[in-house]
Amino acid sequence: MTGNESAGAGAIDVVTTIAEVRRITDGHRAAGRSVGFVPTMGYLHDGHGSLMRAAAADNDIVVASIFVNPLQFAPDEDLDSYPRDLDRDRSVAATNGVDLLFAPTTAEMYPHGAVLTTVSVDKLSQRWDGESRPTHFAGVATVVSKLFNIVGACRAYFGEKDFQQLAIIRRMAADLSMPVEVVGCPIVREPDGLAMSSRNVYLSPEDRCAAVVLRRALDAGEQAIRDGETDPETVTRALRSIVDGEPRARLDYAAVVDPVTLETPPVIESETRLLIAAYLGDTRLIDNCSVRTGQDRS
Ligand code: PAF
Repeated sequence: MTGNESAGAGAIDVVTTIAEVRRITDGHRAAGRSVGFVPTMGYLHDGHGSLMRAAAADNDIVVASIFVNPLQFAPDEDLDSYPRDLDRDRSVAATNGVDLLFAPTTAEMYPHGAVLTTVSVDKLSQRWDGESRPTHFAGVATVVSKLFNIVGACRAYFGEKDFQQLAIIRRMAADLSMPVEVVGCPIVREPDGLAMSSRNVYLSPEDRCAAVVLRRALDAGEQAIRDGETDPETVTRALRSIVDGEPRARLDYAAVVDPVTLETPPVIESETRLLIAAYLGDTRLIDNCSVRTGQDRS
């Protein structure tokens, strides 16, 4: 595709140029319509579908982007093999209330090749996933700020599954006074509890079964807090011991963090986020959950 492509009745408009998205979203805003935006890297699953449905419920018009952003992959990561299926994505997006799909090429997004200007959110980007993927969050923050500049004033929807990413984007939008309301949406899980992710397709059948260990570890940590545990290190040990009990899994990190600063508090007192990352084979999976002390599980 080289420009604006309309796929016919019941299908969705796909545009590939920045100028065209701007023209369309500016027109909607000028007519008084609110714009919801769902940035994705495609290979859409129901986690993305839930973001699109939330955007459609809150806004007059929903724009979704599909762009596998090279800037957020390290040279040894899965940029080339990242799953892609634009035809399927078009129908998933249409089914979930998206009005316009923006699917730019890399040349459209990065016309000069290498970028000289990047956005990096200090502190929040260095911990946890940032330790294993030191350049990842600058790549995310840079492309998301470009996408916000392209789509313009909007509400933007991100999944809580990538909780550190969500915290970083919220902070970036606030620090840079972006005209965007960042909305976090709950994790969508498979029936056995595995958080939905485009990367789940990489798992062998055996690793796919074992992957539910992330959710089991979070459940154990959550239960420990509900039982009155207030020491983050003890809760972290509970998560770690569950993952260590699964021979196919290798823990990257487990952490108890404040949901805004992503720092581990000295004592667990109020709303806390449990974060976990583990390898199943070569696939690195992440998951997290919120725990409010003194409240029943929802
Ligand atoms: O979460 C993702 O899919 C990506 O990191 C995002 C936010 C679309 C930026 O490329």
